[in-house]
Amino acid sequence: MIDRFTTDRKATLTVDGRTFELPIVEGSEGEKAIDIRMLRGKSGYITLDTGFMNTGSCSSDITFLDGENGVLLYRGYAIEDLAGNCSFIEVAYLLINGHLPTRDQLRDFSELLGLFALIHEDMVHFFDRFPPGASPMSILSSMVSCLCNFYPEMNENPMDNIDMMAARLISKVRTIAAFSYKKSLGAPLVYPRHDLSYCANFLNMMFDSPVRSYEVNSTMVRALNQLLILHGDHEQNCSTATVRMVGSARVNLYASISAGINALWGPLHGGANQAVMEMLEDIHASGGDYKKYIARAKNPDDPFRLVGFGHRVYKTFDPRSRIIKKACDDVLASLGINNDPLLELAKEIEEVVLKDEYFIERNLYPNVDFYSGIIYRAMGIPVDMFTVMFALGRLPGWIAHWKEMWDDPNGRISRPRQVYVGPSQRDFVDIGQR
Ligand code: CMC
Repeated sequence: MIDRFTTDRKATLTVDGRTFELPIVEGSEGEKAIDIRMLRGKSGYITLDTGFMNTGSCSSDITFLDGENGVLLYRGYAIEDLAGNCSFIEVAYLLINGHLPTRDQLRDFSELLGLFALIHEDMVHFFDRFPPGASPMSILSSMVSCLCNFYPEMNENPMDNIDMMAARLISKVRTIAAFSYKKSLGAPLVYPRHDLSYCANFLNMMFDSPVRSYEVNSTMVRALNQLLILHGDHEQNCSTATVRMVGSARVNLYASISAGINALWGPLHGGANQAVMEMLEDIHASGGDYKKYIARAKNPDDPFRLVGFGHRVYKTFDPRSRIIKKACDDVLASLGINNDPLLELAKEIEEVVLKDEYFIERNLYPNVDFYSGIIYRAMGIPVDMFTVMFALGRLPGWIAHWKEMWDDPNGRISRPRQVYVGPSQRDFVDIGQR
């Protein structure tokens, strides 16, 4: 796809007295890139960019993100429009297929989700073998990884079955997430129901019980839909880049997604929603003096970071955090929670941080994780499941990227280079002489 966007313009690089011309690529929203694919072959040089601060690993037509202006588009549609008007399933379809579904397409996709909602009964026994307190993220990634053994159609040409596999994953990951919660309680499993929507089904599997039936709450369903949509995709973040990288070795979809789940687990990435809630609880429990925590975050000798602030790409408000903040107010109001101390604390922290020179200079604004946990908590979702919720939302994005990567005729195995700084070749020393 890069070649389609290559312009007539060239960048020149002079090194060791020799000048090289490098093609300039311009994306559909005007982002510019210098195509260095031939650089090493021509000059012997590679580029060095630790943490990929400045490196495009692929071209993609799934998501556009403008971090300077706070713009986020999925397949060209503004996140605000999608979050305000669509169900998560519609957005999942959009991300994976590139267009919004018609009524018939949405019905067919929902049918597939209903059909695939169960997991193989042999897999249900796996839950019994995790030790008490096992992380739900490790359970999720293990279970997703082994799906390929139960649904091996993947091993043939994956593009023939991609719609089925996508529906299978989106539906089963929801079931696995809810089952892992029930197992962690030692409670009986609640199986998916055909008459409930995706989000309502999830909440029912989480909270229904033979001794107290769960009444699906429409405010919660709406909020959950919105949260999952907001997490749907975010271009080349750590977990998505992982899915593409692992998949580039031509490993199956389930194994690639499992790798993405593990990347998401990290507290600098999806794990931040859990870390934010733990931080707020900590501040609250220790008397509410959040200024002490802000001071720690600013101290260069202290590794502590104010979780829920900062983003590699956004240098202004994350548009998702605005929507989430509003959803947070709506959910709490509709549940009659008028003074949630953690929400008040979060708002006070945000207000102070937005006026603080340290955060202003570094463009550190609240990110998507800052308020999402407060909503999940109000829904009754335990803190250690927060990152699982992020994974449920991000799944369609991972699938869309895996599909795009697999289908790319110019695609190659991802294999970065390095600048070696270790010892030069030296004489081997026998173990007795060391
Ligand atoms: N609190 C205090 N200082 C911070 C923070 C923070 N949350 N985030 C960045 N900084 C400082 C950092 O110390 C550095 O300062 P200096 O220039 O003096 O060394 C400067 O800001 C730039 O930070 P960086 O680490 O170079 O930026 P990055 O792009 O590598 O990291 C980040 C981005 C999201 C990992 C980082 O902002 C962070 O650790 N935030 C807290 C964790 C968090 O909320 N993560 C969720 C991100 S959004 C959802 C997702 O991606 O999954």
